[in-house]
Amino acid sequence: MFAPIAVALVVGLLGWAYRSLKPPPPNICGSPGGPPVTSPRIKLSDGRHLAYKETGVPKEEAKYKIIVIHGFDSSKDLSLTAPQELIEELKIYFLTFDRAGYGDSDPNPLRSVKSEAYDVQELADKLQIGSKFYVIGISMGAYPVYSCLKYIPDRLLGASLVVPFVHYWWPCLPANLSRVAIRKLLVQDQWAFRVAHYTPWLFYWWLTQKVFPSLSIMTGNMAIFCNPDMEIIKKWLEAPPDGQDKIRQQGIFESLCRDIMVSYGKWEFDPMDLKNPFPDNEGSVHIWQGYEDRIIPLEINRYLSDKLPWIQYHEVPNAGHLLFFDGKNCEAILRALLLS
Ligand SMILES: *[C@@H]1O[C@H](CO)[C@@H](O)[C@H](O)[C@H]1NC(C)=O
Repeated sequence: MFAPIAVALVVGLLGWAYRSLKPPPPNICGSPGGPPVTSPRIKLSDGRHLAYKETGVPKEEAKYKIIVIHGFDSSKDLSLTAPQELIEELKIYFLTFDRAGYGDSDPNPLRSVKSEAYDVQELADKLQIGSKFYVIGISMGAYPVYSCLKYIPDRLLGASLVVPFVHYWWPCLPANLSRVAIRKLLVQDQWAFRVAHYTPWLFYWWLTQKVFPSLSIMTGNMAIFCNPDMEIIKKWLEAPPDGQDKIRQQGIFESLCRDIMVSYGKWEFDPMDLKNPFPDNEGSVHIWQGYEDRIIPLEINRYLSDKLPWIQYHEVPNAGHLLFFDGKNCEAILRALLLS
């Protein structure tokens, strides 16, 4: 009497666990029943498509060509607040793209830190923007920039890591520093990153379950934004940027989940293994950190730029995680990258 009930319970539990741990298949853009393709795309050598957007001056007239790499839960439609006069004065061409699984870009089930650099390189080559270009990575978009510095340094003219992602398990970091930094995050975010790092197979469930508080961005917890960030969010609420509805249209597993699983997974290198790509000062590398940023604690970026003196470190007072979206700061970032 008791045994069959126990067996039924166990089978039921396993079935439930299987269903909740296993993410649904992605809703591929352009496939039957999937969202339509509404952006120009290139086809990569492995058959995936990458969607892109070109802004600023036309590339034929440009003096500076910059690939801007978006962060978590964002896309090629991120708002570039660079003043128009600056764009015309310096003749800047911007290329943004949907990273794998976001927006109109195909998912990459083999995505890795390394594959992000090769996606950037192939995009540049397919669009023929030249043998060398600049990269700017924002927040989570910084790990693709670290990847470019590692795998395609010869293709770069300069790089900016803006409010860059930090990995609490990079072996180069002293344990006490990582501990101090991660404990500055909201407890729910500390746990989300630990789950992604130690048990990535649980991460989809963790992000979608309702029992424990999940990643703050997913639960709408505004405590992660400081006052300067809130000012920018208020503007976005009044005039929402385009393309917001397309960011997660292929499902959250291949976009949000895989982004975090890859970035907080095990790396083949860490920043301390990087070499200065510009030993003769023919280009520059920058880190921009908002002093009030609550999403990226400043301790680790301070430490890295202290240990890697070829990275110019800029700590901006009265700025938080959204500093790139303030016109003044955006201009400072561009001038430092292009003119220093
Ligand atoms: C970590 O430990 C080192 C060596 O004991 C010390 O110099 C450093 O200040 C500590 N860092 C933090 C953030 O506590």
